[in-house]
Amino acid sequence: MNMEYVTLANGLQVPKIGLGMWNTYEGEAAKTVETAVRLGYRRIDTAMGYKNEAEVGEGIRKSGVPREEIFISTKIWWADMVDKDKAHIRATFEKSLSNLGTDYVDMYMIHWPVGDVKAAWEVLEELYAEGKAKSIGVCNFQKHHLEDLLAYAKVKPMINQIESHPTFTQDELFQYTKSLGIQPEIWSPLGRGADLQNETVGAIAEKYGKSPAQVMLRWHIQRGATTIPKSVHEERMIQNADIFDFALTDEEMAALLAEEAGTPCGNYKQGDYSFTR
Ligand code: A2P
Repeated sequence: MNMEYVTLANGLQVPKIGLGMWNTYEGEAAKTVETAVRLGYRRIDTAMGYKNEAEVGEGIRKSGVPREEIFISTKIWWADMVDKDKAHIRATFEKSLSNLGTDYVDMYMIHWPVGDVKAAWEVLEELYAEGKAKSIGVCNFQKHHLEDLLAYAKVKPMINQIESHPTFTQDELFQYTKSLGIQPEIWSPLGRGADLQNETVGAIAEKYGKSPAQVMLRWHIQRGATTIPKSVHEERMIQNADIFDFALTDEEMAALLAEEAGTPCGNYKQGDYSFTR
């Protein structure tokens, strides 16, 4: 598998394409991870909220590839940040480690900007200083959440993981994240599959003899993102990583951005942003 990497602000290298584990169910997650790692995936993105950390650990062990060669990210769920103290937040991290069967993660993230973000970030900074989290980041932070965080953070997040796809680009947030020296990382890069039917995507795919999924993933990479497409199918995993042998023109990049329709996949009510204001 021909994979490219980006370098995070702290010098850590992360593959541009990783495997997203949201919605990969109990019983299929270990096999999915084992297959992906055997194929050459070196980044697995999970979360305590996905309820598959233990299977992620199992899949990596079964792959036979040394743990140190895999970039594992996991996240603290928002309910563990609401009316919880720093001891609870630390215990939550330790639980993730034991679920995964490892003594460090490559990235630990705040999943939603809800609850006591400051306390959580302080714990993440401690874990980073202790080397238990090799890098730390956030997810679903809008501009004002990043501004709030940067007012007190001693360590700047290395990644902001956000939803983006042609019908919900969040381009302003994407560009703002990048301008801060924070790596934008895209979840649901295919719009959970919905944008695979998009006509503009389809026309570009036909031109290059690539699939619609490959066109969207290439678009994200060319925008400067890392991304974590989810698939439980081997042939799609192979396809989703095979995007480094063609390039979209500036016009095609702009045409995909122009498909913006304001249609998110995420349930943003769950991460009620007003909660932290
Ligand atoms: P599956 O896991 O059955 O392969 P997103 O990452 O945007 O959330 O999209 C994930 C959805 O897109 C899943 O339903 C996944 O299904 C599907 N998917 C992933 N890769 C591809 C692909 N290359 N072609 C078609 N569908 C894909």
